[in-house]
Amino acid sequence: MKDTRNSDDSLEKAIALAGEAIRGARSIVVLTGSGVSAESAIPTFREAHEALVDDEGNTMSALWAEFDPQTLATPEAFDRDPEMVTRWYDWRRLKCLEAEPNQGHLALAEIERRTRDRGGAFTLLTQNVDGLHQRAGSGRVIELHGSIMSWRCSRTGRRTEIPGDAFETYPPLHPETGDPLRPGVVWFGEALPPDAIDTAMHTLASCDLFVSIGTSSVVYPAAGFIHLAREAGARTIEVNPDATPISGAIDIALRGKSGEVLPVLVEKLGS
Ligand code: OAD
Repeated sequence: MKDTRNSDDSLEKAIALAGEAIRGARSIVVLTGSGVSAESAIPTFREAHEALVDDEGNTMSALWAEFDPQTLATPEAFDRDPEMVTRWYDWRRLKCLEAEPNQGHLALAEIERRTRDRGGAFTLLTQNVDGLHQRAGSGRVIELHGSIMSWRCSRTGRRTEIPGDAFETYPPLHPETGDPLRPGVVWFGEALPPDAIDTAMHTLASCDLFVSIGTSSVVYPAAGFIHLAREAGARTIEVNPDATPISGAIDIALRGKSGEVLPVLVEKLGS
């Protein structure tokens, strides 16, 4: 993939252009991936991570890499070993609860506020399950891949309250049905929540600005959203330190970390 990393001055110019586009947009759709949570020390999925050491001295990337998300995030893995899968997801849930929203999450919530204050529409579609956008104050968050903070009975689908700390047993059991609980995230091979997809489709069909942030753009349907936005005539922005398969279709490339670029973008929006 050609490296379209900006030099500093062209990044500055690109951010100014992006600020203008945001200020003038009637309807903005943002798509985020795990990169927006990387600066909250939550590892992404497909990158080799330098060790992220958590407070018990565990290197999250080592623990994370030991359990490959691509093999664990499947119904088959859960059926085969519900204890290991629920233990891993509960470990991730607690790490997400310990994590704090970073400057990128907070900047996105501010961009949403300003857009709405001037009568514009704003929808945040996220592939992330960590709940950090909501904790940063984002209002309209569509969780395309569900949430690690909600768990349900694996047989009946009935939800239940879960503890703020670790489950006592693995797999945890639904208090009424007695069957194992599973995390409310979308696993490989599973359909995305229909209402989330419906919202994504109609907001993309009517947006005039699409912003892709912190996603490798390789997992569909999210990876195809840029094409729906372009068909609607939208301008497009990508925030990512690296180029991705959609970079060639992007109008404004902000080659940087979202926690660094987005706060500068908010400054460009003026008071
Ligand atoms: P990936 O790990 O595939 O991609 C992370 C992207 O974030 C990469 O393009 C990085 O270059 C970029 N990135 C890293 N640090 C960043 C930073 N500080 N600021 C901005 N960007 C940064 O993660 P996703 O694209 O989110 O699906 O993966 C998509 C889906 O694949 C996930 O939702 C998950 C996974 O399997 C399911 O679990 C169903």
